[in-house]
Formats: sequence, structure tokens, C-alpha cells
Amino acid sequence: MNAPTTFDRAPGAADALAPNALAGDTLTKTDTMAMARADTVLSPRFYTTDFAKLDAIDVSPVRREWDALMAEMQADPNRQHFRRTESFAGIIEALDPALRVEFTDFLVSSLTSEFSGCVLYSEIARRTRNPDVKLLFKLLARDESRHAGFINEVLKDAGIGVDLGFLTRSKKYTYFRPKFIFYAVYLSEKIGYARYIAIFRQLAAHPERRFHPIFSWFEQWCNDEFRHGEAFALLLRADPALLRGANRLWIRFFLLSVYATMYLRDHARPEFHAALGLDPTDYDYRVFSICSQISRQVFPVELDTDCPAFRRRMDDLLAANGQIEAGRARGGVIGLAQRLVGIARAGLAFARMYLHRTKPNALPESVRMQPSW
Ligand SMILES: [Fe+2]
Ligand SMILES: [Fe+2]
Repeated sequence: MNAPTTFDRAPGAADALAPNALAGDTLTKTDTMAMARADTVLSPRFYTTDFAKLDAIDVSPVRREWDALMAEMQADPNRQHFRRTESFAGIIEALDPALRVEFTDFLVSSLTSEFSGCVLYSEIARRTRNPDVKLLFKLLARDESRHAGFINEVLKDAGIGVDLGFLTRSKKYTYFRPKFIFYAVYLSEKIGYARYIAIFRQLAAHPERRFHPIFSWFEQWCNDEFRHGEAFALLLRADPALLRGANRLWIRFFLLSVYATMYLRDHARPEFHAALGLDPTDYDYRVFSICSQISRQVFPVELDTDCPAFRRRMDDLLAANGQIEAGRARGGVIGLAQRLVGIARAGLAFARMYLHRTKPNALPESVRMQPSW
């Protein structure tokens, strides 16, 4: 659920950590809370919206598919899934320090995204008077609360659990209009599915690389995310005005923002990806490809992420991000100048990707898809 609008703040994994964290000392709860609370362009956000406007949602154009999805979610296929069969104690602590920091960053960032969904969905369920909206968001909040709770259990086993009550009260909330929430959350759910399933498939092929048991939970977990995305696909298809005219430009913006954010974040975790046997560039483009194929159910355009020119601009953005980081680390007037040049370069790379030709897509009659990746 990330939607950056500027690139003046783009930290690496260790940015929010205490100075001793990379030196091999044990991470503390203070470190993970700082990571979860971080308010940066690339960190997962908490959202708020115009709740009253959500009461006007009318799902009757997609009623048949909607009711089938609600029945599936009410049947709760993953009710028994998020239970540990063993203690995970000692596993994170035994990792090499650099991998431990990046894996912890991965867990905290995943926890923050899951919990961000939980907070937003619960609030919508609590406030709405629309019965369809209330039912959906209750079910969504149920799942995200389980997901966040499960990751937090893993962190607690290592003594670095995040105080979610304090996080709810202290994290900054970003306001988005309902339609922007829909674009952002639809993509966040679907890219979440694609990320989890791509890691799960990699470890199924290379079980020796499974350095933590949590990855074994990803297959059924990602099916929850897939269903969540289906619900937002139906909400978007129920109101065709959200998918045409000037809104096509917003859709392009959100697609690019989500992809670019993921690319920068994942490239800040080289040790984590090396341990999984994944090249972050290959992994990210695989995830973008899955996400683009899925989003044909709802978006009238898709980004041409396989085009070499698009990929060169993405690497320009990554290089510019590195320059911003280097400028911040250096400080002083020269560091500031370096940062400003980096910001300008990042803005240019983003704009060129935004203006890169897109592929048009005719929406299919039936919205629902199966998680077949
Ligand atoms: Fe989730
Ligand atoms: Fe989800």
C-alpha cells in the first residue's frame, strides 16, 4: 500500500535502525518499532479516507461474482492455517548479521503492510452503514489481523515483537480519496500475492535455501491476498467510471508507484535475496509480470515492464536513489547538492517511465480469476 509522490526520502534497510544494529549486536524492540514507525517514501503507510463516501458503493452490477466471493471468504479456508507447529525461537538470532538485519526489515515491513490493511479495513467495517461493504471489510480485517499477528509471533520469538497498539496510535496516517484507496489497495493485495507465491515457488524448487520456516506458510497465505484483491477488482468493476477517462492516468501512476517502490526496496536487501537464491531484478520483474497479468481483470492499461528502455529508466531511478542516500550520508553543502541532483534525476526517471508507452487492455466480461501462478 505504498504510493510515493516524491523521491526526497528513500532509505535502505538499515536506515531506521540504531547505529549498532549492523555491527552484529542483537536487534532490539526499539529497532523494530523504529522500522515500523518509519515515515518515508518507501516505507509502508497507514491510510485513512472519506468513510461516509464508501456507503454509496453499489455492487449490484457484479452481484453474482460478489456473492460467490463472499461465500468463499465466509467459509474461511485458512482458519486453521496460521498456527505454528513448532517454536521459531533462536532462528533469526542465528542468521549472519547482515542477513538478520535485512530479513528483520523484510518481516517488519510485511508486518506493517499487513497491519496497515487491518487498521484501515476494521475502521471501514466499523463506520459503514452499507451491509455489503461491512461484510467484506470485516472479513478482510479478520485475515489481515491473522497475517500481522503471525509475523509478530515470529518477531516475538526473537524478542523483537512490535507493539501494535502503540503503532496504531503513533504511526502517521495518509489521507487518500476512496478511489485512490481502491487503486492502491487492489495493487497492494495482488502484488502481495505475487511476491509471496514467487518466494514460495523458489523455495519449493530449492528447499535448502529455506532459512526460516515462515516461508512454508506463504502458499496458502498468498491465496488470502489473492481473494482480497478479487474483492477490490469487483468494487472497481462495479463502478466503470473509475476505470476510464482521466482515471486511466491515475491507474498508470499507481502502477508505476507501486512497482518503483518495490524495486527500490528490494534492491536495498541484497543479502536477503542472495540467501533465497533470487536476483532482485529478476524477482521483481517476475512479480511485475504476474501482477500485470492479473490486473488485466480490471485495469484498461498495463505497463510495458519488459521493454529494455523502461528497464533502463528503472535502473536510472535506482542509481538516483543511491545518489540521494549517499548525499544524505555525506551531509553538509556538498551532500545537499548531491541529494538535490539525485532527486532531480529520480524525478526525471520516474517521469520518463510514466510517459513510456503502455499496452491497452480490453476488460474481460467475467472479472474473477484463479490464483494459478
Ligand atoms: Fe495479508
Ligand atoms: Fe490482504
